[in-house]
Amino acid sequence: MARLIDAGPGCPTPTPLRAKSAAEARGLEYDDAVKAATDVLYPLVSYFITPMEWPAVAPLVAEINKIKKAKNAVILAHNYMTPDIFRLVGDFRGDSLQLAREAAEVDADIIIQAGVHFMAETSKILAPSKTVLISSMEAGCSLASSITGEDVRLIKERYPDYPVVTYVNTTADVKAECHITCTSSNAAQVVEAVAVEWNTDTVILVPDQYLAKNVAAQTGIRIITWPGACEVHELFSKDDVQALREAHPGVMILAHPECPPDVLEAADFAGSTAALANYVRDEQPAKVVLLTECSMSDNVATDNPGVDFVRPCNLCPHMKQITLENILDCLINMEYEVTIDEDVRVRAKAAIDAMLDLPKMETPLSFNVGVKPMEIEVISRH
Ligand code: 13P
Ligand code: SF4
Repeated sequence: MARLIDAGPGCPTPTPLRAKSAAEARGLEYDDAVKAATDVLYPLVSYFITPMEWPAVAPLVAEINKIKKAKNAVILAHNYMTPDIFRLVGDFRGDSLQLAREAAEVDADIIIQAGVHFMAETSKILAPSKTVLISSMEAGCSLASSITGEDVRLIKERYPDYPVVTYVNTTADVKAECHITCTSSNAAQVVEAVAVEWNTDTVILVPDQYLAKNVAAQTGIRIITWPGACEVHELFSKDDVQALREAHPGVMILAHPECPPDVLEAADFAGSTAALANYVRDEQPAKVVLLTECSMSDNVATDNPGVDFVRPCNLCPHMKQITLENILDCLINMEYEVTIDEDVRVRAKAAIDAMLDLPKMETPLSFNVGVKPMEIEVISRH
């Protein structure tokens, strides 16, 4: 069950306490130089770090930004990062698709992925000459771990006539076996394009069964999927949407398409993290709830001070492995480096390139809401 309690801004909260001991342990102080370098940044997080707490966080931020410059490194920060990372040290911010495009184009020697491991792999696949680092090897993903390259080989043996689309939330091994990748920003576009290219009415979309069902409802294309799920989004239910509407009359309910289809049926809008952020920016609802990872609301709230956010506290345990402290260590120690076997990388790149070569959309696609969920074939693991 999802946690519907309104967690308020800045959940999870212990950043200043952790940062204080981390800065002290590294001999970093809030001196005049740090103050001068960071005063301009404080307003970006003032709603969740108090002026008293700021001297604990600022030395880490200043040190990260200093080393980044010296080493010609950039930080790609996913929308689920806590605001201290997202706002204060992230150089490029966005959803999975935006970060993949940045990785392919960015002019830097080092990419630090402030996100999870499959995102760092995507960066390495697209930018093999750059050093790609992730600050915690614990930052996995329940979708990425739900399927292997061997599983995809077996799927292709069983269904040789259908194209296999993989959500980007998979390992390089899985991507290497698939024909094309997609993200939640472009899944319908990819599935429709590949159906035309293969002249088929059936497409395999792995590993997220809920995303696949939501795409099937969107496109009308017959989709076969895999029994994977995001451990954060699968917790939301239609009853949660009802409970939120009762507790907060008039609230606009926005859902990520990794949520089960009956959640999208009951929501007011659905789309990728970038699509959700755009909706809030463009529509300025009086009160909104984002049915997605908890930190996302903090990041969107900063840009939309006139919007009241209800913040159900559903944290991704993998995304939350990434902290200011381990980003600093990562930059200093140059670990953990992401490497991929060259044969796998080249084949995985072909699947990502097939997606990036499709016409670039002006904005991320939204998903239909209010549509009755449809049953689709879910491949058995055995
Ligand atoms: P997007 O940012 O592409 O919507 O993906 C959400 C997600 O779950 C990433 O882990
Ligand atoms: Fe994976 Fe879900 Fe966490 Fe995204 S939020 S990294 S899909 S477990």
